[in-house]
Amino acid sequence: MPTHHLNRFTFGDPKNAGNLMTIEEAHALLNEWVPNERLRLHMKQVAAVMKAWALEKEKADEKTALKWELAGLLHDADWEKYPDDHCRIIIEELEKRNIDPDIIHCIASHGPNYFGVEPVNNMDKMIYAIDELSGFIHAAALIRPTRYEGLEVKSVLKRLKTPSFAAQVSREDIADALSRTDTSLEELIQFIIDHQKEVS
Ligand SMILES: [Fe+2]
Repeated sequence: MPTHHLNRFTFGDPKNAGNLMTIEEAHALLNEWVPNERLRLHMKQVAAVMKAWALEKEKADEKTALKWELAGLLHDADWEKYPDDHCRIIIEELEKRNIDPDIIHCIASHGPNYFGVEPVNNMDKMIYAIDELSGFIHAAALIRPTRYEGLEVKSVLKRLKTPSFAAQVSREDIADALSRTDTSLEELIQFIIDHQKEVS
């Protein structure tokens, strides 16, 4: 992915803290902005894993979990229509809609090596870690006759060590993202398999 430094470090307006959109509104935005079904599925998978992580691992309340889910659902919303301005366009749209700054910062920091914005809180750190791994695990599932059924952590680990498999997924980014979290690669792979396999 080419770099698109945002050249800014604050996002949204603090007075909009707590301003969320509904999940239906987020899906409507996605359907309008993202014709590519595969890309929409990627965002739905990241959203499902983010929400589950917030609820199960962070013991977040429903509203906080919705923030995690919305960030996951919208993080690549502008990727298909504005590849050269990826991230900037969706950020500006959410700022226009007066959305909670945590969600906007989370989206801005989902690729620190590309957008130049460092993940700060756990939501930021986890979207960075979940994003690339989620796509990688989905690619690993798709080449199996039984897809997610019986997909094991160790086979995902083996594929990660095979540079030619899903070569566009940066192993360095995955390692960098994991190093910023308290979770292990094995734990996160299992969590992603468990929570994205049913998403369609
Ligand atoms: Fe993504």
